[in-house]
Amino acid sequence: MCGIVGYIGKRESRGIVLDGLSSLEYRGYDSAGIALIEGGDGTLIKQVGQVKGLIKKVNKTKPKGNLAIGHTRWATHGAPSILNAHPHTNKDETIYVVHNGIIENYTEIKTKLISKGYVFISDTDTEVIPHLIDYYWKNLGDFDKAFYKALKDLTGAYAIAAISTHAKNTIYAARLSSPLVIGVGTDEYILASDPTAIMPHTKKVIFLEDYDVAKISKNNCYIHNLKKTKEGIQEPELLDYDNNVVLLGDYPNFMLKEINEAPATIKTATTGRVLSSQNLIKLGGLENVEQQLKYIDRIVIVACGTSYYAGLVGEYLIEEIAGIPVEVQLASEFKYRDEPFSRSTAIIAISQSGETADTIAALKKVESYGVLRLGVVNAVGSTIARMTDAGVYCHAGPEQAVASTKAFIAQVTVLNLIALLLSNGRTKQFKPLLMELEALPEKAKTVLESAEAIKKVALKYKDYKDFLFIGRHIAYPVALEGALKLKEISYIHAEGYAAGEMKHGPLAMIDDKFPTFAIATSNHLLEKTYSNIEEIKARKGPVLAIANNSNKDINKLVDDVLYIPETLEQTKPILEAIVMQLFAYYIAEAKGYNVDRPRNLAKSVTVE
Ligand code: AGP
Repeated sequence: MCGIVGYIGKRESRGIVLDGLSSLEYRGYDSAGIALIEGGDGTLIKQVGQVKGLIKKVNKTKPKGNLAIGHTRWATHGAPSILNAHPHTNKDETIYVVHNGIIENYTEIKTKLISKGYVFISDTDTEVIPHLIDYYWKNLGDFDKAFYKALKDLTGAYAIAAISTHAKNTIYAARLSSPLVIGVGTDEYILASDPTAIMPHTKKVIFLEDYDVAKISKNNCYIHNLKKTKEGIQEPELLDYDNNVVLLGDYPNFMLKEINEAPATIKTATTGRVLSSQNLIKLGGLENVEQQLKYIDRIVIVACGTSYYAGLVGEYLIEEIAGIPVEVQLASEFKYRDEPFSRSTAIIAISQSGETADTIAALKKVESYGVLRLGVVNAVGSTIARMTDAGVYCHAGPEQAVASTKAFIAQVTVLNLIALLLSNGRTKQFKPLLMELEALPEKAKTVLESAEAIKKVALKYKDYKDFLFIGRHIAYPVALEGALKLKEISYIHAEGYAAGEMKHGPLAMIDDKFPTFAIATSNHLLEKTYSNIEEIKARKGPVLAIANNSNKDINKLVDDVLYIPETLEQTKPILEAIVMQLFAYYIAEAKGYNVDRPRNLAKSVTVE
């Protein structure tokens, strides 16, 4: 949940690290800091608030040097403050450390160091690291050894970068359960929590793996694994991202940009995979487990947040298209359950970032179960992508806004593909759905073209304090997702509910101050949804609905209607989601909130 950037090389480090922090700010943005070393001197500058405040502060002093590390924080231990901001340092400011993750045994280490005379000035767990390195440096006189020794004392999750005046031309980096990537340039290296900060400089990257320790100088990067699984110089991989996808372009923020990428997202998720002329689905990422898939008789989907709601849509898709029983569990619940698994079970982990701690923990739990572990992941090379036996990348490109939008679109698209693949063509839906997936980008574009109509309705409802989202069948998880979008960027209390549950409680909340957003697109359940709408209207509840273009009756029943083009039941969630993403976006924008960086949240929840 924090962003780390480091630079060592032929260029000035300051601007590269600060720009990198700005591009990683979606990972955490309550405070930021940078440490630079030039010759034998270190400079440490920290600031509460967003990275732009740090940039202003740094530009006042313009520290020099070609070695620096920086950090943008999402507070876990200790409130946002200058003292708690990273980099953290030892007393004589010769060692600077930035960290993402949680040091679980920090109190024990802190107590030991205090007993040896060390003084702590922050409330963070991270501060034990520079003092621990200092302790070993003073006892061993060798910085390499001091860094390794300190790492071996730590338990928990970490991505660490450290620089020191004792090791002037080196960045030390280490990774355990928290992502860290090294960009390999010409006579320079850029270290970062994810490739977003590296892409403007190079596409050649090395993804550090658990227990990797990197010693990076201007012209080489030496990696040692604490579990002795590797040693030496590692060949970089090539990133397949297109750099301008990361840039904002003419959009006012990333969220609106990413919502508008829905047509392209559907296209990149299906290109080369949906071959309707051959009546074929091709998922290269699953080819190595093709035989095992034939024996799968149960699927458990594990995910969090929006990805969990995509998983709930996937349950309907896979059960009804492929005829395989599916259960969807919140990763944070799954990891503590003690449930039986047969070897013919497959686990599907869905994650945009591929770094969500709960989802990683869920996969770790079943590591020894002998079950097939699949990933539906967006971030290439991420931890979850590497932990699974096989998977299908979403190829949506980096998603920067904290509120997930295009990733949900990609996930539901990919789940349609997986359902079709698992059906082995034995469903009457096969050909129609292949064709519809190819036609879907145009339909998504049509929905985006109705943005002004959506905005008009959104502004009408922006001042309500509560909202109910209801849907039936495959639209029920879409209602849950719509409620999440609204609450996480506009801070309005919003609940998603199965429409059929209204009489079992939620109806009691309804009055003229409690609007309901009804997804009324299902062909075979429309009458039932109409009954729910009438129950709500009878209690003076305002109702706005999403309906199919062809539905001309519904506007007599509800206060406002937002339309989507005709499409199949299986692809309706994609078009409905775009409407609700824009609805939430325009309300939050009207309230003047930072839609890319909603309060209290971060893009990737890499701590449990
Ligand atoms: C969704 O808008 C949120 N940002 C959040 O719920 C997110 O979906 C969740 O944290 C899971 O993240 P992941 O897909 O990267 O695993």
